[in-house]
Amino acid sequence: MFETELTRTLNIRHPIFQAPMAGGPTTPDLVAAVSNAGGIGNLGAGYLTPEQLRGAIQKIRELTDQPFGVNLFVPEQPEVSEQTEEAVAQMTEYLNKYRDKLGIVQNPSIKKFSESFEEQVQVLLEEKIPVFSFTFGIPSLDVIHAMQQQGTVVIGTATTVEEANHLEAAGVNAIVAQGCEAGGHRGTFLKSVSESLIGTMALVPQIVDHVSVPVIASGGIMDGRGLVASLALGAAAVQMGTAFLACPESGAHETYKQKILASNEDSTEITLAYSGKAARGIRTAFMNDMQQYPGEIPAYPIQNALTRDIRQAAAKANDSQYMSLWAGQGVRLANDQSAAAIVKQTIDQAYTLVQNRFR
Ligand SMILES: Cc1cc2nc3c(=O)[nH]c(=O)nc-3n(C[C@H](O)[C@H](O)[C@H](O)COP(=O)(O)O)c2cc1C
Repeated sequence: MFETELTRTLNIRHPIFQAPMAGGPTTPDLVAAVSNAGGIGNLGAGYLTPEQLRGAIQKIRELTDQPFGVNLFVPEQPEVSEQTEEAVAQMTEYLNKYRDKLGIVQNPSIKKFSESFEEQVQVLLEEKIPVFSFTFGIPSLDVIHAMQQQGTVVIGTATTVEEANHLEAAGVNAIVAQGCEAGGHRGTFLKSVSESLIGTMALVPQIVDHVSVPVIASGGIMDGRGLVASLALGAAAVQMGTAFLACPESGAHETYKQKILASNEDSTEITLAYSGKAARGIRTAFMNDMQQYPGEIPAYPIQNALTRDIRQAAAKANDSQYMSLWAGQGVRLANDQSAAAIVKQTIDQAYTLVQNRFR
């Protein structure tokens, strides 16, 4: 019923991508459950070491023989330079008040700001994964071609038509159109984030009109209604993140899941506070407090590394106010059914809608 160019290319039954969600939610169990249910599960691997990445891929392969994807963050910032050292020192000092509150050591030394993209790519090439997706930019053409040469489908993320055009010129096989409703980090890489906050309803048809590769609608899609709407706008599939966060297979912290199930359309905000990169999440005391920060928040991945100990300690203490609770504007529609039930219900609802409403 909902066969598209992309479902044929990927050899999947339903045009539903479970969004890659780095930081824990997209466990091998979740990825495999969605792929086994006829959609396609995606591992958010941006924060994984090469060893963790290989282990997760092997686990997914034990759990499913269906196609799945792996997603990485394209590096875009140089590591700490002389100019940023002062900003890092100022932020470290400022963050000590939260460390004090959570009872953890002050001024922790940070050994590594992010994982090596090159090493992560090497693992993906060795593992010959079915789908490789990326966000925050465009990897080198060498990487894109090496993936495609071994049969991996390559998918980039755009938040504007101009970004989609750049991705198409780089030769990607499909493009995720990420509207500003979306939970998690913005994939924006050309203009400023404030110039690139286009809603899914407006973004998808404009990207569809300007590229010839399949477009995957993402941001605020929570059920069959969102799926039908996206297909009507010209999308070849949807990518749903927040919808899967509270399901049993999701690795999101229990306190985070409870917040997802208790939040509304007005609960989220876009913030730089946790990572130095704009991301949408449920409003917290940490987000509010950081608005008073007197300096400039260090860019990603520096701020992300600087707040890691605070987020981890907060999770341990079940203190949601200092955890990052990434979620999209559709969060009121989230539920805690199994991943397979979410896929099935989305397809059934879309089918019923098309049968009854558009005859
Ligand atoms: C917790 C969380 C983590 C995310 N991590 C990633 C990621 O690692 N890579 C990526 O491309 N997108 C990531 N995203 C964005 C999703 O791919 C997608 O654009 C978004 O979830 C769609 O909006 P929705 O949450 O309203 O469904 C993340 C989203 C959430 C909610």
